[in-house]
Formats: sequence, structure tokens, C-alpha cells
Amino acid sequence: MNNILNKNHKGDCIKVMKNMPKEKVQLILTDPPYNASKNGVNLPNNKTGGAYYKVNEKWDKFSPKEYLDFTKKWVDEADKRLVPNGSFMVCGSLHNIGEVIIVLKDKGYKFINLITWKKTNPMPNITRRTLTHSTEFIAWFAKGKGWKFNYENMKKYNQGKQLKDVWEFSLCQGAERIKGDNGKSAHPTQKPLELFKRLVEMATDKGDIIMDPFIGSGTTAIAAEMINRMWIGIDNNNKYIKLANKRLKDLRKKNQQ
Ligand SMILES: C[S@@+](CC[C@H](N)C(=O)[O-])C[C@H]1O[C@@H](n2cnc3c(N)ncnc32)[C@H](O)[C@@H]1O
Repeated sequence: MNNILNKNHKGDCIKVMKNMPKEKVQLILTDPPYNASKNGVNLPNNKTGGAYYKVNEKWDKFSPKEYLDFTKKWVDEADKRLVPNGSFMVCGSLHNIGEVIIVLKDKGYKFINLITWKKTNPMPNITRRTLTHSTEFIAWFAKGKGWKFNYENMKKYNQGKQLKDVWEFSLCQGAERIKGDNGKSAHPTQKPLELFKRLVEMATDKGDIIMDPFIGSGTTAIAAEMINRMWIGIDNNNKYIKLANKRLKDLRKKNQQ
């Protein structure tokens, strides 16, 4: 087991997970493709949140049936890796959260919370044909009884009172957003680190293992490592594995200083 921990693994997550030991992971925390890519809408001169390029990636395009089948397949493999009292958290938007919820409910999971991430700086809606999309969701499910919930600790995020299920964070931008050589975002969907840290802190303890089958730029790994959890990351894109590894190297170097 130790040889697969605190590492990013390159490959299709369904295949990679098949070779991993069963029932070792306390939390699956992941941000899968949302199936949100259609036509790129770009706002290079956007003033509110900086330049904006709509997600338009090959890995993010499925027919509705393909997306449901894909979700069933990766959830099935991830489920086998989770301990009996483990938590399963999946990020989504209006594009995909329905499918995610159906698949996890169908597997017998208990739906604990639908956490709403309220964006403090959402992108303006240039079509003027819909409301401004300003939320994403994290569907939190438990595999069985006795899931971990660090209830008292979470109160610090609400002035000592019970934490509610709507959390405000800005889009990942500024110094936190990793840029490529061309000055554009190095990963199209990098998530806010503080959001992921809070999710990890909420449902795990020090030393627990967190797995993210769609690690992208490595946000789950960074969050886990910052608060002394172990982790397993997977991505099928070599460019993103390198990016996540570089981010980790920088964090570890900083920790040694
Ligand atoms: C929404 S992004 C994750 C972003 C990440 N949360 C972050 O903060 O950077 C989804 C990632 O899944 C990867 N991916 C897509 N299909 C995959 C598959 N079948 N197996 C493994 N990774 C996959 C993509 O390369 C992409 O980096």
C-alpha cells in the first residue's frame, strides 16, 4: 500500500483503480469532468475576475448516455477502494450533478449534504438568456454507518456556530491560479484550495487516506498534505500529472524551510 501513497498515478482512472487495494481509503474527494464543454466562450478582457476562457476540453465531452455510463464505471471502482464508513464527495454543476447523485444513490449510499459553493466573483453571463451561474455543488455521500464528521471543528468557519451547507469562496485566481508559459491558466478547472482543505478536514482525521481519481492540477493532494493526510491522485493527462507534481515539490520545499 505504502508504495502507492502520496503519489500521482498516470492513466485512465478506471483501469488504475482496478489495481489498487480494496477498502483502504477514508475519503474519495473528486472533481470529475462536468460534461460542460460545448463551444468555447472566451472573455480575454474580462474585468471582474480576470481573463476568462470557457472550459472546452475533449475530456469533458460526452453524450448524456455516455456520461451516465462513465460515471457508473468510475464510481464502481472508487467505491471498492473506500472503507465501510468512508465518505464520497463529488464536485459538480447543473451539467452533471444529477447523474452523480443518481449513481451514488443507486449504489446504496446515504446522501448527507449537497454543499453549495457560492462564488463571490462569478463570471458574467454574456448571453443574457439565463441567470448568472454563480454556484457549484459538492455532493457528500456516506458508504455506510459511522462516517467521520468533525462537527465541532467545523464551527470555526461560522463564528463558533453550526456550519451551514452554503460556503462562499472566490474562483481560483490571482496568485493561487497556476499559469503556463503563455500566461493562461495551466489547468482549465483548478479548484480553490481552501474549499478542498475544508472538505478534507471535515470528513477525515490525520493519517487518513484520501483518493482523487481526477486530480488535475493536484488541489486534493495539496490540501491533504497541508493538513497531514495521505493521498492518492490519478489523471490520464501527462501534462496535468507534471503540473500537480511540480505543485507538490514546491509545497514540500516550502515546508522544509
Ligand atoms: C475537472 S478536472 C479536475 C481539476 C482539479 N480538481 C484541480 O483543482 O485542478 C478533471 C481532470 O480529470 C482528468 N480526466 C478526465 N478523464 C479522465 C480519466 N478517464 N481518467 C483519469 N483522469 C481523467 C482530466 O485530465 C482533468 O485534469
